Amino acid sequence: MSFSPNSPSLSGVEPETGSPLEAPAPTEPLIVYRGVGKHFNGRMVLHDINLEITSGETMVILGRSGSGKTVMTSMLVGLNTPDEGAITVAGIDLAHLESDEDWRDLRLKTGYLFQASALYDSMSVGENVAFPMVQQTDWSREKIIGRVRDKLSQVGLEEAINLRPSELSGGMVRRAALARSLALDPKLIIYDEPSAGLDPITGDEISRLMRRLQENLGVTSVVVSHDLRLTEYVADRVALLCEGTIAFLGTFQEFKQASNQEARRFLHRDNQGDSQR
Ligand SMILES: Nc1ncnc2c1ncn2[C@@H]1O[C@H](COP(=O)(O)OP(=O)(O)OP(=O)(O)O)[C@@H](O)[C@H]1O
Ligand SMILES: [Mg+2]
Repeated sequence: MSFSPNSPSLSGVEPETGSPLEAPAPTEPLIVYRGVGKHFNGRMVLHDINLEITSGETMVILGRSGSGKTVMTSMLVGLNTPDEGAITVAGIDLAHLESDEDWRDLRLKTGYLFQASALYDSMSVGENVAFPMVQQTDWSREKIIGRVRDKLSQVGLEEAINLRPSELSGGMVRRAALARSLALDPKLIIYDEPSAGLDPITGDEISRLMRRLQENLGVTSVVVSHDLRLTEYVADRVALLCEGTIAFLGTFQEFKQASNQEARRFLHRDNQGDSQR
């Protein structure tokens, strides 16, 4: 395997380093959004977002296209910053992290499954999974190769180690991207539309995989999705984002039974088969 590190990666953690994600007591929320607002070119995208996500919890952020889900979750790794309010992760106010160096620990402990998977086409699947380890650690080649195999086996893709992303199906690409975001054993995983564009059976495979990771690794997960089937399978709680603010917060069962107008509208739209692009 040859490695060619050439761009920044946000997709992993390094278990040996001291971590901002290990700070809070179990009962305290790991992530807190307080009055968060965001504007682009004078247009409000997020308004007064208040949300607490507990350590070990899987929170699914639901909402229509353009409702601000990616903007909201990408703030957790500094790809967007709030114009109003504050976000704390493990008690650390993200506004206090300024330089890339300040962000490093947090990003190392965070796996980010991008909406478009973002595999490097010029690298094999194995090299993609190795990339965060090559970038962020001084591990030996043998250790990295061993961990690449381990991560690929966690997502059922051992046989694809030498294939290029262009040789994979959509579901395999998503699983390879997930293996890469697991490369450094994250404490927090952000999944942006993990099942979008996949058929229901492949989507179910991804749901089961996410569930297994939650159960086996005890990670905290923030999942952006339109997919109610996946949501039902993985969510401890759901937050419905509507016109830039949280219109509903509760368990999936509560969501299904909610009298809340936005929740009803979102569920009804899904029943008409309009929820998956
Ligand atoms: N960098 C940016 N500059 C200007 N506008 C932006 C930027 N990023 C996001 N937006 C706008 O913010 C709004 C919310 O975008 P976001 O990507 O968070 O939506 P989303 O809920 O993730 O949608 P989807 O389900 O389609 O992925 C959109 O109207 C988008 O055009
Ligand atoms: Mg999005």
